[in-house]
Amino acid sequence: MSFFITFEGGEGCGKSTQARLLYKRLKKMSVPALLIHEPGVTALGKRVTSLLKWSQDIKISPLAELFLFNVSRSQLVTEVIKPNLEKETNIICDRYSDSTTAYQGYGRGLDLSDVKRVNSIAMQGVVPDLTILLDVPIEKGLERKKKVRTDRFQTQSRAFHQRVRNGFLKLAEAEIKRWLVIDATKSKEAIARIIWERVNKLIKK
Ligand code: TMP
Repeated sequence: MSFFITFEGGEGCGKSTQARLLYKRLKKMSVPALLIHEPGVTALGKRVTSLLKWSQDIKISPLAELFLFNVSRSQLVTEVIKPNLEKETNIICDRYSDSTTAYQGYGRGLDLSDVKRVNSIAMQGVVPDLTILLDVPIEKGLERKKKVRTDRFQTQSRAFHQRVRNGFLKLAEAEIKRWLVIDATKSKEAIARIIWERVNKLIKK
């Protein structure tokens, strides 16, 4: 049986690094795995990402944002996630629907039940087996991200990022079995060890 693992967290939490480390470890053990990220990956997803992250000159309402992320997601689930899980390839995904709930729901203030409903249509029943939340104080995360090109989300207010962080923590609290919350101020190596302990259990199941 294949597994679907997602990484979540606010800006600069280090999830992409940890997703890559986990992917490399699985590959080294010859466990079939695919590393992907949201939004993007598919041709449609890449077009949508360029609108969502880099088009500072056009207006995108919170509701339009909710749909755009889910346009990209629905294509990703259909084109990549479902077929790979069916052929027993494990998937590691850097962000998934919980990001939409945290950013568009808690961050932008859209109605949470609407967000979950739209997410659920795009997910087509594909729910993560494990979601790893790298939790970091917002100042620390934004500081880490300073060196990279700033997108539409990084330029949001402190309050926005704080709501996103709180939102992720609430989501994790509500579904403790699915989530693994890690203090992302720990060292890269320590975080990778915690993740591996949990993933190893999942593989052995
Ligand atoms: P990143 O993961 O490469 O940092 O970029 C993705 C950005 O898009 C990040 O700021 C979070 C944001 N985002 C949402 O607002 N909603 C979503 O559903 C997803 C997947 C990402």
